Amino acid sequence: MDGNGRWAKSRGLPHIAGHREGSRALRRAIEAAIQSGVSWLTIYAFSSENWRRPAGEILGLTGLLRRYLRSEITELKQSGVRLRFIGDRCRFDSDIQTDLEAAERDTAVNTRLNLTIALSYGARAEIAAAARAALEAVRAGCLEAGDLGEDVFASFLATAGMPDPDLVIRTSGEQRLSNFLLWQAAYAELVFLDVLWPDFDHAHFGAALKEFSRRERRFGARKD
Ligand code: FPP
Repeated sequence: MDGNGRWAKSRGLPHIAGHREGSRALRRAIEAAIQSGVSWLTIYAFSSENWRRPAGEILGLTGLLRRYLRSEITELKQSGVRLRFIGDRCRFDSDIQTDLEAAERDTAVNTRLNLTIALSYGARAEIAAAARAALEAVRAGCLEAGDLGEDVFASFLATAGMPDPDLVIRTSGEQRLSNFLLWQAAYAELVFLDVLWPDFDHAHFGAALKEFSRRERRFGARKD
């Protein structure tokens, strides 16, 4: 959800106004995914590094998250969306943690769109935690070290059981992964859009899918 700050600045508005508009763009992205028949969508909403932002901004962001969780869940539930959250949720206030759990529980039977929101998420921390968990499993005698291949390791990640992303879309012209799904995105197609996140709409989503459909995916194999 990149570009909220620049969107607000270009309008002479406070940074939080960009985040507020960014939350509306999230609604459009979810609708676009459903309309396009995409069944897995992961949103990078808040990185582990974002905690270093000014206290006022963090307060505004957690306020928006709180409001989002209380106002959107009923509609997401009715639209067939299953919500999951990845990241270090312990860093949020306990009422938010309770709402995150409730949102996951209340939407668990839905299958139309699997929506994962990465909150307080960092891929390196996720990979380090998976390594620790795998090591624990070996120590406890539940896993042979020699059996720790790619698939087994992936089962210790926060995304266990989810498919790897085919397409990663980054808005606002930035061309980096910024610690997002580093393991899972090994073969993802990357599409960088020159649009600030608050302006993201159905047309941008469609354009990214069109660009994806033009890519030739070889997964390291030869073409012939
Ligand atoms: C990037 O914009 C966006 C964020 C750091 C946070 C986005 C999070 C929310 C809107 C919180 C609410 C969460 C949900 C799930 C509704 P930026 O500030 O880095 O903007 P810039 O790239 O222009 O600097």
